[in-house]
Amino acid sequence: MKDFINVGLLGAGTVGGGVIKVLEKNAAAITQKVGKPIRITKILDRNVEARQKEFGDQYIFTDAPEEVLNDKDIDIIVELLGREHPAKEYIAQAFENGKHVVTANKDVLARYGSELFPLAEKHHCDFMFEASVCGGIPIIEPLKTSMAANTIHSVMGIVNGTTNYMLTKMSNEHLEYEDVLKEAQEKGYAESDPTADVGGLDAARKIVILASIAFNTRISLDDVLVEGIESIEASDIKYAQNLGYAIKLLAIAKNDPENGVMACVKPTMLPLSHPLAGVNGVYNAVFVNGDAIGEAMFLGLGAGRLPTASSVCGDIIEIARNMQYHSNGRISCTCFKEKKLCPPEKMSAPAYIRLQVLDQPGALAAIAAAFGAQNVSLRNVLQTNGVLGQKAEVVVVTHSVSESNLQMALQILQVLPVVEKVSCVIRVEDSSLS
Ligand code: HSE
Repeated sequence: MKDFINVGLLGAGTVGGGVIKVLEKNAAAITQKVGKPIRITKILDRNVEARQKEFGDQYIFTDAPEEVLNDKDIDIIVELLGREHPAKEYIAQAFENGKHVVTANKDVLARYGSELFPLAEKHHCDFMFEASVCGGIPIIEPLKTSMAANTIHSVMGIVNGTTNYMLTKMSNEHLEYEDVLKEAQEKGYAESDPTADVGGLDAARKIVILASIAFNTRISLDDVLVEGIESIEASDIKYAQNLGYAIKLLAIAKNDPENGVMACVKPTMLPLSHPLAGVNGVYNAVFVNGDAIGEAMFLGLGAGRLPTASSVCGDIIEIARNMQYHSNGRISCTCFKEKKLCPPEKMSAPAYIRLQVLDQPGALAAIAAAFGAQNVSLRNVLQTNGVLGQKAEVVVVTHSVSESNLQMALQILQVLPVVEKVSCVIRVEDSSLS
């Protein structure tokens, strides 16, 4: 038996540095919890000299991946490089060498999970990835263990901090999207290329992981309907507030017994009384509905050095405990079912639609007829004149409508002579509007 649990770290950047710090700071307590000390034996990083200076001579840095991946003394590889490649190849190599893996890499999991899980299983290795979804919030392990007895009906989350920060700011300060994005970039909350965040791809990768675990079936990125927040304007947020809603970018996965499993990312109006509606700023939250647990919400910081390191270190500790009892590989891939997927056109929810129209007799009647022709029932209709002069703005909230009927109604609206523009469409999650 070895005296230490040896960790090889791939990447000593923001999160990797946090892992080094947390394992250092809480070393004594972690040793007690595990029964053996955990030590980082080698660290892969491109900036060997700078990192050595930053973290001290007690760590061995290298820029040669094989020195870490092929080191026979290393038990656990912690991959914190980000992006798909070469992270995916390094993880695969680690399993081939019989090493357990911890990763925070949602890109790799969402794209290559189906390849990597069988590899982990084949080599009886643990593969843990709590930090890949919502950084510091424990949600993967609770879904796999504490809530394992449930049939999960839905998982709904604010899983992207950048967009939640932006929507909160637009909402509290009545600012436009472009201004908030600029400020978020200046403050370092949004990346210089914010496409993956504002376009919903980051959230889509996270819901792929959550839905696959919640419903025990493999969901792929291509199965997720993705919309970002780019077309939301300050006026939509104001209308939403007047209607009693908050606008959030939600990642939603539902298991409909009739239509199958659906997953999507879309800006969504939520009643202000919904627990997710009060999750603001860079905070993330995941709201789970299960047949035994009922409704439960997991809230916390979805990114950042120490919160993310907290999840990574938790995984390392779990693997180290498994090693003590020779019980690694206990919970491998949980996607053991083939569940029917709900085709996107069958997904249904109420919708909010904002239109620019010509203020003339019969305009509203024509709009109402377009919805009626597609069997879309209207719940609220608001019209304002404001400063638009001859034009008016019309806002419609529908009862629940299938994606296909909504799209057909929108197509008709777009070619109506009285409709100048369909400015914004936002789905509504409100059980009172069925
Ligand atoms: N860019 C993400 C966010 C964090 O804004 O929440 C990493 O997934």
